[in-house]
Amino acid sequence: MYEEKLISGKVISAEEKQKISQKVKQLKAEGINPKLSVIIVGENPASQSYVKGKVKDCAECDIDSDTIALPESTTQQELLDIIEKLNNDETVHGILVQLPLPKHIEEYAVINAISSEKDVDGFTAVNVGNMHIGKDCFIPCTPQGCIDMLEYAGVEIEGKDVVVIGRSNIVGFPVASLLIKKSATVTICHSKTKNIAEKTRNADIVIIAIGCAGFLTADMIKEGAVIVDIGINRNSQGKLCGDVDFDSCVEKAGKITPVPGGVGLMTRVNLLKNTVKSAKNKRK
Ligand code: GUN
Repeated sequence: MYEEKLISGKVISAEEKQKISQKVKQLKAEGINPKLSVIIVGENPASQSYVKGKVKDCAECDIDSDTIALPESTTQQELLDIIEKLNNDETVHGILVQLPLPKHIEEYAVINAISSEKDVDGFTAVNVGNMHIGKDCFIPCTPQGCIDMLEYAGVEIEGKDVVVIGRSNIVGFPVASLLIKKSATVTICHSKTKNIAEKTRNADIVIIAIGCAGFLTADMIKEGAVIVDIGINRNSQGKLCGDVDFDSCVEKAGKITPVPGGVGLMTRVNLLKNTVKSAKNKRK
């Protein structure tokens, strides 16, 4: 009944994967084998599942990958040494350190040890800086995935009022930056924001990434608003769900992304795209 309102990550990511496979084929014909190295430290089940997904996606598009699984007790120096090796390894085009890292390791130091030319997550200071000033760089995969979904669905961004809920360095902050570059008027809400509903009710587009199941309810949105749900949570029945109360919001929204089958798939596709981009950069 509401199918026409859905912005489907499944449909878009399937199309994108076909294009990526084509590009990989071309690169391989030129003797370049795109390769992603993924490092995971410890045994966080969610991280393990994300990493498995990333490896599977690579295989689907014929991109080489290897997973370096390290014990929780790994020291920061050991991790930095591994990153340095990968930085110097000509066969590796993308390096991803799965977050979060164990508490005894300083995330910022580890991320910034990755060569900005292989930083397919777009998390190093160089790529973050270049993104904010609109220079060519690796753009973080989830924020880019949100923009891709809006554009694919034909949602105009220029001049629109957008509310982003969440201000993380991985999602909320960068997606706001990308939207400003596309001439949206952006409000970022967070845990200290007074009366979030007052802001979201005036928004043409709401993007939410706070990790709180069912936070955004129909009474908080404007009729016809476009809703992008980045949350990945489990509800009380253990079912995967987003930050949006989908059943109530779908009635009122103009367009909406589902969970599962939404932004998460676009994140995965953009990691592949960034890996191929890195491999292509070697050609230059
Ligand atoms: N942990 C949760 N999301 C991400 C991501 O996009 N990249 C990395 N490296 N770790 C994550």
